[in-house]
Amino acid sequence: MAENKISAGIIGVGSCVPPKVVTNDDIAKMGLETSDEWIRARTGIGERRLADNLSTSDLALQASINALKSANKRPEEIDLIITATCTPDHPLFPSVACIIQDKLGAKNAAAFDLSAACSGFVYALATASQFIEAGSFKNILVIGADTLAKNVDWTDRGTCILFGDAAGAVILSAVPHGEGILSWTLGAQGSGGDLLIIPNGGSRTPLTPENITERNHYIKMDGRAVFKFAVSIVIDSIEKSLSKAGLSKKNIDYFIPHQANKRIIDFAAERLGLSEEKVCVNIMNYGNTSSASIPLALDEAVTAGKVKKGDLVAIMGFGGGLTWGSAIFRWMA
Ligand code: ACO
Repeated sequence: MAENKISAGIIGVGSCVPPKVVTNDDIAKMGLETSDEWIRARTGIGERRLADNLSTSDLALQASINALKSANKRPEEIDLIITATCTPDHPLFPSVACIIQDKLGAKNAAAFDLSAACSGFVYALATASQFIEAGSFKNILVIGADTLAKNVDWTDRGTCILFGDAAGAVILSAVPHGEGILSWTLGAQGSGGDLLIIPNGGSRTPLTPENITERNHYIKMDGRAVFKFAVSIVIDSIEKSLSKAGLSKKNIDYFIPHQANKRIIDFAAERLGLSEEKVCVNIMNYGNTSSASIPLALDEAVTAGKVKKGDLVAIMGFGGGLTWGSAIFRWMA
């Protein structure tokens, strides 16, 4: 990356959450043996948003409109749309990115979806930055959007409490070398795929009227094992990205970790030596919104003035696959 003359930088950000709020007490009232106290203590989550009759692309479209406005760009100026999602509107095609291309009127844009679960936004950002650095595209709309709450078993208290629906988007553009995105690290450990899986409904086991009663078309998760995986990878990934950029954890002005569990966020903040005001925590309002969590948090942090021009921002995602990724960038908008 260091030899290239062009860098990729985020020049605008937007997000969208659906209006329906479901509190922990609402879930307890559904007849599950759980409580607001347990959920808050073990996860940090207080409430989440549910998309209901809205689709992933509905949320992604509004987030994209907001990001374009923030970047002061017109849809026709976008060359490529990448949507990180594991919950597309349709099982195979069209992609969410193509739906957005049409609805936005981004007639000059190529479009595709990318699947890396909760790490999806970081994967998409790293992918998009390559097209910019290579000079292939000038302006890329990168979206993280998911509606995982539509894919949980509402009789399984171990998973249904965790997820919420949302979308976030950024506009990535060519910027002078050395500004914008400074480094990134991606990783995967496919051997851990079974730890977070929707067993049925794909080409391995297509859904049938018979197997649908097994409830294996919903998220199955070994929560403890995923927790251990997350804490084992988060610091290593950030340190690798920092080192690639020639920086250290002391240089971080603001840290946006994937919002999966407050205890994982606290662990990472402590190990990075970051004080509370330097760490983004909004899990209490939205739960785990998968690939949307980082751009949603970035949008909120920028709007609240927590991230200012010139700040060094570190982002880190992890999730199903298993996958992980981190990136270091200077905020330039
Ligand atoms: N309410 C009350 N009790 C519960 C609930 C609940 N909602 N869920 C589980 N319990 C019970 C369990 O049944 C268990 O009871 P037992 O001791 O009688 O067997 C007890 O609480 C402890 O269960 P654990 O699973 O060990 O609880 P833990 O402290 O690990 O918390 C949790 C579970 C919140 C799921 C945690 O493991 C976690 O957050 N894991 C990481 C999840 C994650 O990050 N996922 C990322 C997904 S990203 C993506 O790509 C989609």
